[in-house]
Amino acid sequence: MKQPGTVEIYALPRLKYLKSFYGKMKKRITRGGFSLSIIFIYLLAVPVSSWSFRGKDSGLQIMLPPDKSVVSERLIGVVLSTHGNPETVLLTVNGKDYPPLRTKDSYICKEIGLTEGMNKIDLRVVGKDGVNKGKTLSIFLSSALSERLKSPPAGFRPYHFHRSEHVRECSRCHEMKARQSDANPGSPELSSCYACHKEITGYRFMHGSVSVWSCTRCHSGSDNELGSAGPVSKLCFSCHYNEMKTWTARKHAHGPFALGACTICHNPHASDDPFFLRKKTTDLCLSCHADKASGAHVVSGFSGSGHPVRGRPDPRNPKKELTCASCHNPHASDFAFLLFKDLGDKSSFCRTCHTF
Ligand code: HEC
Ligand code: HEC
Ligand code: HEC
Ligand code: HEC
Ligand code: HEC
Ligand code: HEC
Ligand code: HEC
Ligand code: HEC
Repeated sequence: MKQPGTVEIYALPRLKYLKSFYGKMKKRITRGGFSLSIIFIYLLAVPVSSWSFRGKDSGLQIMLPPDKSVVSERLIGVVLSTHGNPETVLLTVNGKDYPPLRTKDSYICKEIGLTEGMNKIDLRVVGKDGVNKGKTLSIFLSSALSERLKSPPAGFRPYHFHRSEHVRECSRCHEMKARQSDANPGSPELSSCYACHKEITGYRFMHGSVSVWSCTRCHSGSDNELGSAGPVSKLCFSCHYNEMKTWTARKHAHGPFALGACTICHNPHASDDPFFLRKKTTDLCLSCHADKASGAHVVSGFSGSGHPVRGRPDPRNPKKELTCASCHNPHASDFAFLLFKDLGDKSSFCRTCHTF
């Protein structure tokens, strides 16, 4: 069920008739109308990205990702078509080898993890005569939290998968249409998203709906494209209603919060850091406020050259580490500089944590 006010970001194929056409085709395959349907699909399937990287006889093709793509998230699917030939492919990502990949039913599909900035994906075929020459894909993982990684190098293009031309090819084997039950699948494997996006929950902290694979709570089956880190606050606030009421009533709003850019700081799905933050809190803040690293701003007007901003317990909240958020609210506050308390003559502020 769609939440009121949900931003529609899941892009399903536009050509509805094609979907039903392929649905019928798939049924025919399962019923045993095998060869005819397969031929049909071969005739219709437009290769996603079509260059082979071995001799003309082999025709091994890299379907995804397109070379020179820009992505904004770590995980990406590598899909190869071997056109019926049994193949073993060696996959190396930024110098790290994966176990050899073997063709299953003429396809090789593998979800891999990227690192920020430029990534090199090497693919080489193992033949009778040893390892053949391969292809290298360059994929740029951008980050809104880094000046250096905000914009990709010239010639790189954003890549969106859920478009009809890709979906056609994959629907031979994969369920490509969101089901009604995807809002509440019961177990991960029952979600139609699971087959291709398994790794998305492979982190320490998982967001409520994500941990139970209710993907379509946020990704509705509309035709809209998925935006990059844009104003998603409407979506977030459709469930976090109490936070919305509290924060929007406050006098001072933090820049990125006021823009509604929740996903600049929070991964919407999962992360190894609490609150699904994209970085540990202090590092997160420093990616935009690098000049505050020494904590000198805290003690300006006092003696001493700096103030700790990490690595100690937070006296107001001893279970947590001291971070920038120990003194500043990352969303909004009634007090100047987003502080948790009025600064007043400063020393009363300091005495919340100190006895001097
Ligand atoms: C056949 C495999 C497959 C299935 C099934 C699938 N996806 Fe994807 N999806 C991909 C690939 C490949 C990408 C491109 C990024 C990547 O490689 O992870 C992608 C990207 C996305 C994106 C980013 C926008 C875009 O179009 O690139 C969203 C959002 C998304 N998937 C949501 C879903 C949801 C929700 C479901 C289930 C209803 C689902 N996907 C099912 C393969 C799949
Ligand atoms: C001929 C059948 C077939 C086709 C066509 C196919 N896949 Fe797959 N795909 C599979 C199978 C089988 C698996 C499960 C592999 C496994 O678990 O080892 C899989 C798994 C995946 C995975 C997850 C891999 C992982 O590491 O968990 C992704 C992503 C994926 N497919 C994307 C795609 C996309 C995108 C397309 C279309 C371009 C596509 N597949 C076309 C058969 C296919
Ligand atoms: C709480 C809402 C929410 C839920 C639940 C959710 N997503 Fe997302 N997802 C988003 C938002 C928001 C974005 C855009 C991120 C951005 O703006 O940077 C996104 C982006 C994506 C993308 C593209 C970027 C990426 O992370 O690779 C994929 C793929 C994706 N979602 C898959 C899924 C799958 C699969 C599930 C179910 C396990 C799921 N999402 C559940 C909110 C959600
Ligand atoms: C479909 C409902 C839903 C949507 C939409 C949603 N959330 Fe959540 N969120 C939850 C639930 C459920 C929890 C877990 C319960 C809790 O701790 O409050 C949670 C927890 C969180 C937490 C951790 C809270 C804590 O105290 O540990 C953060 C951070 C968060 N969500 C951020 C977001 C952001 C950012 C968005 C928008 C991208 C968003 N949420 C959209 C349902 C949602
Ligand atoms: C500038 C970065 C940043 C932005 C932008 C941001 N958050 Fe947060 N958020 C944080 C940090 C840091 C924490 C953890 C605070 C702590 O350690 O106490 C947090 C905590 C949370 C929590 C859980 C605990 C709490 O404070 O209630 C929720 C829910 C949440 N954010 C939702 C959102 C939503 C929704 C948006 C967008 C409207 C948003 N955040 C925008 C950085 C951010
Ligand atoms: C994506 C960039 C970004 C991130 C990340 C970020 N900020 Fe900000 N911050 C801004 C912008 C933009 C402003 C408003 C412009 C200004 O006053 O410099 C701002 C202003 C502030 C202010 C001054 C507010 C005022 O009223 O004077 C404080 C304090 C602050 N941020 C603290 C934090 C803390 C703490 C974190 C980490 C939880 C953080 N920021 C993370 C961009 C960011
Ligand atoms: C121990 C409390 C405390 C901690 C920890 C702290 N701050 Fe501050 N911060 C303050 C106080 C107090 C002020 C007001 C300073 C003044 O009087 O000008 C302030 C002001 C600011 C301002 C706005 C004024 C300016 O100089 O631009 C920003 C931005 C800011 N802090 C960011 C950060 C960031 C980023 C961190 C983490 C690296 C951090 N703060 C850690 C107490 C703290
Ligand atoms: C949120 C709690 C908190 C607030 C508010 C706070 N501090 Fe601290 N301060 C700490 C912690 C924690 C330490 C580290 C104590 C330790 O090492 O055991 C610290 C250490 C210090 C130190 C010693 C620095 C060093 O490197 O040894 C000074 C000086 C100091 N604070 C001054 C101030 C002043 C001045 C203010 C008010 C502007 C202030 N603090 C506000 C938590 C706070």
